[in-house]
Amino acid sequence: MAKLLVTGGAGFIGSNFVHHVVAHTDHHVTVLDKLTYAGNRASLDGLPENRVSFVQGDIADAALVDELFAGVDAVVHYAAESHNDNSLNDPRPFLDTNIIGTYTLLEAARRHDTRLHHISTDEVYGDLELDDPARFTESTPYNPSSPYSSTKAGSDLLVRAWVRSFGVRATISNCSNNYGPFQHVEKFIPRQITNVIRSIRPKLYGAGENVRDWIHADDHSSAVLTILEKGELGQTYLIGADGERNNKDVVELILETMGQPRDAYDHVTDRAGHDLRYAIDSTKLRTELGWTPQFQDFESGLANTIDWYRANEAWWAPSKDATEAFYATKGQ
Ligand code: NAD
Ligand code: DAU
Repeated sequence: MAKLLVTGGAGFIGSNFVHHVVAHTDHHVTVLDKLTYAGNRASLDGLPENRVSFVQGDIADAALVDELFAGVDAVVHYAAESHNDNSLNDPRPFLDTNIIGTYTLLEAARRHDTRLHHISTDEVYGDLELDDPARFTESTPYNPSSPYSSTKAGSDLLVRAWVRSFGVRATISNCSNNYGPFQHVEKFIPRQITNVIRSIRPKLYGAGENVRDWIHADDHSSAVLTILEKGELGQTYLIGADGERNNKDVVELILETMGQPRDAYDHVTDRAGHDLRYAIDSTKLRTELGWTPQFQDFESGLANTIDWYRANEAWWAPSKDATEAFYATKGQ
């Protein structure tokens, strides 16, 4: 049995990972999470107390981080400011958490010689044209567009530098867009599902031609566990499940699945600097480490996600009004 520290474990993907680890391993997990607006302690409800403990705190708090690193075998680092639209409104927290927070963890990993896995995003590579046959690979040059993605790119580069300069035992993964339970209602899919539940028309930025490469959060978790167990130190692995869809198709599928007319949505102000298309080539992870995604059918994964939001209104309702009020100020 290993002892894992999971930063950001009360967020969307981090909490899915904690559930996955409890279900598929005998590891013990300590979650370190600041519980920002995006963190929700209830996402960890029902997990056994002898397997999961929770510490509320900031990854940029060096003393706390040092204390927690002393007692664990490995750290999986999910904590971040994660939403592009917020980063366009107020970039500062993105620098504090994504850059300084990651630096703080790297210094602790260096002091304690702790294995670290850094969670990152495909957005560090910028975007692709709709008709470009290319997909992102581990050797695609970094070209981030937004304050969010530039701070994630910066954090990746810090990890690479700490590996090379100080011998920190780290790996990095860059994943595409996740969907599934426990995702904050500010994000595209849960926003539109909860809009329909609330009889609000879904909101599509611009023409809706932007393409995202969707992967179920549980497949992201299994990939991270695979890298933690079998990944080569110092390496980067791209995680994706061949799930490219444009936003218009996703909104129409949500409406249809929820029994509404497919055209019952509004076009709203586009996102500034909106990346056009992301697409992941995950050949390295599949061939070198033998990983394969389990959720191959987006329609049924999305239907399960819709069911989850219908059944868990108490989880998302406290965030919904403030989220919509924020978007309303931006004409979105
Ligand atoms: P999220 O916003 O849902 O969760 C982030 C969590 O981090 C929250 O629980 C929050 O309270 C916590 N947190 C924020 N600042 C903190 C700090 N200073 N100290 C401690 N905890 C802090 O984000 P998410 O969508 O779950 O993303 C998790 C990670 O995965 C991020 O690193 C993100 O860049 C990456 N990622 C996300 C996606 C996606 O589709 N959502 C895809 C690829 C990679
Ligand atoms: O690619 C990985 C990234 O995916 C992660 O690094 C980010 O943390 C995560 O938030 C996500 O970024 P996106 O910006 O792609 O996700 P978001 O859910 O904000 O938007 C998805 C697409 O939907 C994007 O093209 C913008 C569009 N959109 C979004 C919202 C909230 C809409 O059309 N309408 C909306 O209301």
